[in-house]
Amino acid sequence: MSLFDLTGKLAVVTGARRGIGRAMARALAEAGADIIGVSAQLEESGSDVEKDVTAAGRSFEAVRCDFADSGAVRALSADLAGRERPVDILVNNAGTIRRTPAAHHRDADWDLVLQVNLSAQFTLTRAIGAGMMTRGHGKIIFTASLLSFQGGITVPGYTASKHGITGLTKALSNEWAAHGVNVNAIAPGYIATDNTQALQDDPVRSASILDRIPAARWGRADDLAGATVFLASDAAAYIHGTVLPVDGGWLGR
Ligand SMILES: NC(=O)c1ccc[n+]([C@@H]2O[C@H](COP(=O)([O-])OP(=O)(O)OC[C@H]3O[C@@H](n4cnc5c(N)ncnc54)[C@H](OP(=O)(O)O)[C@@H]3O)[C@@H](O)[C@H]2O)c1
Repeated sequence: MSLFDLTGKLAVVTGARRGIGRAMARALAEAGADIIGVSAQLEESGSDVEKDVTAAGRSFEAVRCDFADSGAVRALSADLAGRERPVDILVNNAGTIRRTPAAHHRDADWDLVLQVNLSAQFTLTRAIGAGMMTRGHGKIIFTASLLSFQGGITVPGYTASKHGITGLTKALSNEWAAHGVNVNAIAPGYIATDNTQALQDDPVRSASILDRIPAARWGRADDLAGATVFLASDAAAYIHGTVLPVDGGWLGR
């Protein structure tokens, strides 16, 4: 369908090596976009996400960058913003989590999570978004969380970072919407990835989470495909500054 067609577009997907980011990159490629995948440990060639993207008939470029390193993020931002072929779609999905009760949460864990999940996203988006504004079009999608709305348990830094992401989504949208740039976020529910492995492995937490999900199952990374393509496409042209939950109904409970 032409409304959702991304043929000829170039998308940057961070955290593309596995989990939700890999599924988002595959979905965008299947809709027609070429992909630049970014992550901390992304293989130069032969990664799973590269195979997904090339199987869809699209080009893939791997960029390795550790978002914990602010200098490396600045260099990445300058590189991507300065290229001849402009970035049409930016998916800010890379993220990490540290689970420790608040009273014992170490400064190093707090700083790392805020840097990777929030500060790095701002640095990259500022650089790529500026070019989108100048060109008069672009799509930016952040990966928020249910912990953009709720407090969570033993993840204070993660919760703060994800609340920050929804604020940043709205702040950037307010400045950039009139320049043709759509800034939105997707809030995944409980998705079975490495990020939630500790919860999946805890029978008590796992059962109590499942009990609250109206869809009666944990999410899969592929459940994020439709929302990603939608927000990256012309179908979402008048959608700005919103956070779209893809959570099996969790927030409605
Ligand atoms: N799973 C859920 O239930 C859930 C729910 C809500 C929101 N989210 C959010 O969804 C996003 C993706 O999470 P996921 O569940 O797919 O987790 P995941 O399987 O752990 O994948 C995380 C991705 O982020 C990348 N990443 C982590 N730290 C990085 C760093 N320092 N520098 C650069 N890249 C880094 C990883 O890179 P490498 O592969 O190279 O290590 C990986 O590709 C995150 O923002 C997460 O907070 C997840």
